Formats: sequence, structure tokens, C-alpha cells
Amino acid sequence: MSHEIIAIDGPAGSGKSTVAKAVAEQLGWAFLDTGAMYRAVTCEALSQGVDVHDQRAMGELARTVTLATLPRVTVNGRDVQDELRTEPVNLAVSIVAANPLVRESMVTRQREIAGAQSTGTVVEGRDIATVVFPHATLKVFLTASLEERSRRRGEEGVDSVARRDEADSTRTTSPLRQADGALVLDTTGQSIDDVVGEVIRCLKSITSN
Ligand code: DC
Repeated sequence: MSHEIIAIDGPAGSGKSTVAKAVAEQLGWAFLDTGAMYRAVTCEALSQGVDVHDQRAMGELARTVTLATLPRVTVNGRDVQDELRTEPVNLAVSIVAANPLVRESMVTRQREIAGAQSTGTVVEGRDIATVVFPHATLKVFLTASLEERSRRRGEEGVDSVARRDEADSTRTTSPLRQADGALVLDTTGQSIDDVVGEVIRCLKSITSN
């Protein structure tokens, strides 16, 4: 059992998934995309016709669904990988992610998933370094300009990305914010390799001390 964690937070399109995946691969560690978990619960609510504004019903759904994120995202055994980034999910996921009952279930699951790994885990999301793993080995906060982030999100567009940023940063429960002591990296105009290299250098300098 290893409890080494690299916690990567940042707004939509800041490069979290790409960087986290590449860092995990280089280190031979597990990778956990927590945004995919909130998206999967949202997919299930839309498919079952559960009102995403109904906090209790959504909390119950989040508590009882079967969720897997690898190799593909499934919810209650249904493969939802190709639905995760569709417009209805983009629109509803911020409402679902602002629900404290949903967050409680997701945070518990995230700690269990990382705790069950035989290697360290690279975990990415919005509240990973602030709430889920406040004692992470390394905390990273990625940023990039809004223009570059919406370009990376392709069809989602500037307005949708800006709206989600606003919702994720201003909600009451676990808003997106920089953790104390986080390595802050602006990925605008940076190559993935450069950012990954910087994260691994920083991890090595921490663990060699
Ligand atoms: O990273 P993403 O765009 O796939 O995240 C989807 C939504 O879930 C986004 O609105 C932010 C939210 N989220 C969150 O609140 N906490 C996390 N740890 C991860 C994602």
C-alpha cells in the first residue's frame, strides 16, 4: 500500500487530465480523474430522469451508484465514456458538483480508490489538494488563459467554460481555489512535456529531502 498522492487542481481546460495522466505514466502510478466521477453521476441522473436540483435525490443516487473510471467510465455497469462531455452533461454537472451530499460520497470514494492502490496516485480535480488529500505529497495548481482553455475544450466554447469556472469557484461547498503551498504552473503556451517535467522535478526535490 502506498499513500503517496500528487494532487492536481485547476479550472476547466488548464491541462489537468493530460498532465496528470502523463505524470502517472512516467512514475508508474495510478491516475484518478475525479471530474469524470461527477460527470458519470450526472449522466446517470439524466438517464434516470432524476432532477439534478433535487439535493436529496441526487445525494442518494451518488451514494448508491456503482462507479468505475478505468479503463472506461461506467456507472451502474453502463459505459458512459462517450457521454461525459456532451452538452447536457456540461450544463448540469456544475449543479451536481455543488451538492454537498454528492461531494461527500465522491470524496469518500476518491480516498478509498487511492487507498487501495499498490502505487502512488495522481489525482486531478478542483478540491483535491484543499479537501480530499490536504496532506498530499505534492500539490499542484494549473492555470491557463481563458482563451487557451476554451480552445483546448474544442466545441464547448468560451462562454460555457467561463460559466463553469464561475460556478466551480463561487459555490459554497469546496470551491475551486489554490491550496496553500501548491506549485502554481501557468500552462499557457507551454508544452505538455515541460509541465510534466516541472511536476516530476518538484516531486523529486520533495522526496529526496
Ligand atoms: O474536470 P471536469 O471538467 O471534467 O469536471 C467536471 C465538473 O465537476 C466541473 O464542473 C467541476 C466539477 N468537479 C468538482 O467540483 N470537483 C472535482 N474534484 C472535480 C470536478
